[in-house]
Amino acid sequence: MEINQVIAAYFSPTYSTRDIVLTISSEIQHSPKQIDLSIYDNRETSYSFSSHELVVLGVPVYGGRVPADAAKRIHNLHGNNTPIILVAVYGNREFEDALIELKDIVVSNGFIPVAAAAPVAQHSIIHSIAAGRPNAQDIQQARDFSKKVQDKLKKTVVLTQQDCIQLPGNQPYKKYGVIPLHPKAGHNCIQCGKCASNCPVHAIPQDHPDQTNTEQCISCMRCIVVCPKHARGLNPIVKAATANKLKKVCSQPKENLWIL
Ligand SMILES: Cc1cc2nc3c(=O)[nH]c(=O)nc-3n(C[C@H](O)[C@H](O)[C@H](O)COP(=O)(O)O)c2cc1C
Ligand code: SF4
Ligand code: SF4
Repeated sequence: MEINQVIAAYFSPTYSTRDIVLTISSEIQHSPKQIDLSIYDNRETSYSFSSHELVVLGVPVYGGRVPADAAKRIHNLHGNNTPIILVAVYGNREFEDALIELKDIVVSNGFIPVAAAAPVAQHSIIHSIAAGRPNAQDIQQARDFSKKVQDKLKKTVVLTQQDCIQLPGNQPYKKYGVIPLHPKAGHNCIQCGKCASNCPVHAIPQDHPDQTNTEQCISCMRCIVVCPKHARGLNPIVKAATANKLKKVCSQPKENLWIL
């Protein structure tokens, strides 16, 4: 089948999902179209795709699930028997039900998942976990996967529901059980507002960037990454406790999963 346009769509607060989705997409089409679902102003925008477009959709795994705000935004993507590659990026713990949840959302919206991946990236809360990943070997694997997907699509004459891949995971999905972690601004804050304008859910007031609305905050860590003064961070005691807990289950390097 002929693909006229590749679309890289991602919810990626700390950018590793974006980079992996772009690695996969760019191998198929140089400079794919991009839809950044992490941008607050894109949260209600609706998109439609034809059967001659290919969407590469990525989310980070949160608590073994698709982040709830990402799921809501993905519901605004509408396919018409559109092939889709699903990518659930995880921080070396587990991806559990994220891929199957992602599949259920897109299938109900008219897409046909033709391939999927669960690649490992540095843990966005505790950076020492899976530090440096994706590494050169991971990136090469992503490129090889992308080439295999292209070959598969070339051999397909007409895409039907029967081409939909099987994915690991359980239904009902596991209960979302992540302990909330809300970054705060410290003395270095120069009130530039960059964290507020970049927060995917607008949980930081623009006129009071030293505050965080803990009801809205999804613990995504983007505000820490974008702050030019390194002024935002987590409570050090809570962060150390989280690191200890995670290190018990994340210390051994995990494999990337590529499904065709
Ligand atoms: C709130 C939260 C929950 C997370 N839960 C998991 C998880 O269940 N399993 C896992 O392996 N990694 C988990 N991670 C790590 C991220 O999935 C991983 O670092 C991912 O690369 C982040 O993607 P991003 O850079 O696109 O934001 C979690 C990260 C956050 C912020
Ligand atoms: S980005 Fe950093 S310096 Fe700027 S307002 Fe936010 S915390 Fe303050
Ligand atoms: S305030 Fe919360 S939701 Fe907003 S960027 Fe920071 S961690 Fe993410």
